[in-house]
Amino acid sequence: ANKLGSKKERTLALIKPDVVTKIGDILELIYSSNLIVTKAKMTKLTSQAADFYAEHQGKPFFNNLVQFMSSGPVVAMELMGDEAMSIWRGLLGTSDPAVARREAPQSVRAQFGTDGIKNVGHGSDSPAAAARETEFFFPSTIGHGPSNTAVFTDC
Ligand code: TYD
Ligand code: MG
Repeated sequence: ANKLGSKKERTLALIKPDVVTKIGDILELIYSSNLIVTKAKMTKLTSQAADFYAEHQGKPFFNNLVQFMSSGPVVAMELMGDEAMSIWRGLLGTSDPAVARREAPQSVRAQFGTDGIKNVGHGSDSPAAAARETEFFFPSTIGHGPSNTAVFTDC
């Protein structure tokens, strides 16, 4: 924390295939919350979706989640600002859009979500996750050659 008690953080914000057409509305919310977009990329995931969600492997929804996440383009963004992780997860609202509509009607999942899987987006839930997930979509090439650089599909 700095002298004013603020805590600059980064987070990975992933916009799922169901709502890439709503990116303008979502960006308005992001900027209204004093977060800035420091990296952005639209791509279509292949088997990378299973790697990204590896922590959920074996859970009953895993296959459907991975299939959905590779069904169309996603938009990955690195956001930066005070409390970026909790601010972005707060903008998203609760994972289940039906619950979000009761608890946080202004949240993006309440406004644009469909169900537990088609729920608009993902947000890193810890500094370690933020580091892993931003590196996943925006791999650093410093110290590596092109062979170590992830290949993403153009949309
Ligand atoms: P999770 O990490 O629990 O939620 P959050 O995105 O709020 O951190 O779950 C990751 C994704 O897995 C979630 O966006 C959608 C899917 N999922 C389901 O489809 N059903 C479920 O019961 C859960 C817990 C998650
Ligand atoms: Mg999660």
